[in-house]
Amino acid sequence: LIVGILGSAAKDSGTRLALETVAERFRSAGRQFDLVDLAVEYRELHDIVSYHDPAPDSQTALLRQRVSMASAAVLATPVYHGTFSALLKNALDHLWGDAFAGKAVGIVAHGSAEKGVTVAADHLRTVIRALGGWSAPTQVAVVRDDFLGTVPTAETAERFDSMVSEILSFGAERAHGRAS
Ligand SMILES: Cc1cc2nc3c(=O)[nH]c(=O)nc-3n(C[C@H](O)[C@H](O)[C@H](O)COP(=O)(O)O)c2cc1C
Repeated sequence: LIVGILGSAAKDSGTRLALETVAERFRSAGRQFDLVDLAVEYRELHDIVSYHDPAPDSQTALLRQRVSMASAAVLATPVYHGTFSALLKNALDHLWGDAFAGKAVGIVAHGSAEKGVTVAADHLRTVIRALGGWSAPTQVAVVRDDFLGTVPTAETAERFDSMVSEILSFGAERAHGRAS
């Protein structure tokens, strides 16, 4: 199971399109993909008071559980003022510091100008490290023109493919390690 966390609340979201492109690839590879739509499902601001001992039915407990069930994750964000969205950061603030330990984590960022998108993706890389995750070396930093309608251009499709195969091979390596 792969969990994908969507950090955009926009209608007709390019970030969502990019994350669904990732989901489709994992599903084609026979994996389940759980898309977490933060704007719909986890709307509350993180409450520091309940960080250490959240109620079992709280947003914090439910989000932690959803992430812990997955063997890998993909974070998808729009670029807002040179970095990733507060909606996504708010979700990440709910998690334990080892939430991504042993998991490969893919980064997808969608913006309007290519340069800034890469920077936002790099910012996410440092947060993934703080949460113990293994960032996939290939990140997908895209703008609208990287899609023709809902289909990624050939060059962009290659980046999606590379990121997904890096995440899958990390999982396979770990499974092999456990078996041997
Ligand atoms: C408040 C705000 C700040 C933005 N800042 C940037 C930026 O710094 N760099 C950039 O490339 N795009 C920026 N954008 C454009 C969005 O990243 C772009 O519209 C993107 O498609 C958003 O993803 P979405 O379609 O999922 O909403 C900004 C948009 C908003 C609303």
